[in-house]
Amino acid sequence: MRFRTEEIMAPPIVKIVEAARRFIDSPDFLNLGQGLSGHIPPNSSLKGLQERLSHPSAHLYTPDQGLLELREELALYLRQQMGLYADPETELMITAGGNNAFAGIALTLFDPGQTIIMSSPFYFNSVMAIRLVGGDVSLVPVDSDFQPDIDGIQSSIDETTRAILIVSPNNPTGAVYEQERIDALVDLCVDRDIFLISDETYGRMAFESANHYSPRSRRDAQNHVISIGSFSKDFGMSGWRIGYIAGPEDFMEEYLKVQDTMTICAPTPSQLLALEILKNGMDEIDSEIDGLGLLRDLAYLRANEIDQWDLTRTRGTFYLFPKVKGCEDSRKLVLDILQETKTLVLPGSVFGDAGEGHIRLSIGPLTPEAVDEAFNRLSDYFAHHF
Ligand SMILES: Cc1ncc(COP(=O)(O)O)c(C=O)c1O
Repeated sequence: MRFRTEEIMAPPIVKIVEAARRFIDSPDFLNLGQGLSGHIPPNSSLKGLQERLSHPSAHLYTPDQGLLELREELALYLRQQMGLYADPETELMITAGGNNAFAGIALTLFDPGQTIIMSSPFYFNSVMAIRLVGGDVSLVPVDSDFQPDIDGIQSSIDETTRAILIVSPNNPTGAVYEQERIDALVDLCVDRDIFLISDETYGRMAFESANHYSPRSRRDAQNHVISIGSFSKDFGMSGWRIGYIAGPEDFMEEYLKVQDTMTICAPTPSQLLALEILKNGMDEIDSEIDGLGLLRDLAYLRANEIDQWDLTRTRGTFYLFPKVKGCEDSRKLVLDILQETKTLVLPGSVFGDAGEGHIRLSIGPLTPEAVDEAFNRLSDYFAHHF
């Protein structure tokens, strides 16, 4: 039997975790593969949720767009946190996570053969979603600081271009995009009448005085910018599957058809927990993210000891994306590191050709002791194998 999805890459993390399976149960296995932030929702918010669950409506559908109370609270948060503007009645939609949101946007916007422009290296699920709807992807390599190449993107626009995608703070590089570059892309999209899709999954994870800048804070470009957010990383809610889209009203009316077909609404208990955290749990979230900042400092300190790496220090997320000197096959390297050190990292090649030669380390879920231990093992490995 033939399947239409055969030409689309298989989920790379699933494949690599399969390869790591025989190490995963070992007590000294260290997982720097999966992109998790480590914290979970605050206890007080979980208690608050428990009370809400005693109400029968907590177990039923919400409106497709999500609970109005949550949208109102979220709109306030987005305005205060990142200057992002969205009318909770008409311009906000609660989704079952960021991936669900992006796939829904792809279904809403793209005719077969239309193109999205993205910087490379890229987050692989974005490519998969566009290919699933028959769209094409045009890749423009980032510059040496992992910032988007504005001229390269501009010259890639042609009559097939429907949208440009940015991901800031970025997975896999950790780059927080500069405001001037984001503004230049907003201007470009308005000028060429295409969409700027902004994946802000790691919106709270800008460190070292970097500021996350949302293009939807540009009031003059509201009709051309669609922002995606997620509660997975910032709020430690990856298992709850909840995120959101902020976009123009006419787009939202069309998106509703996708939402109703795919999920009807995001899971109701997840919406209630997100609401609880937004109302009462933000101090705890802030302190968890501050802790992540300290963990990054430690990881960069240790990573700088590895002479075989070219490391660009970026200011967002919990990912490090070193280039390994002389490495041409990052997949092979990662399997060897796993075999030798029982430490899982991801090959840069799963983030596209521009990622080849790199490895991605996710330190989010580790304790400081585990970060130290991971870098002991990696330093030792690279000193002996390179
Ligand atoms: C850039 C980016 N966007 C979206 C997602 C998906 O997040 P969610 O759990 O909200 O679907 C991820 C997850 O790793 C990501 O890195």
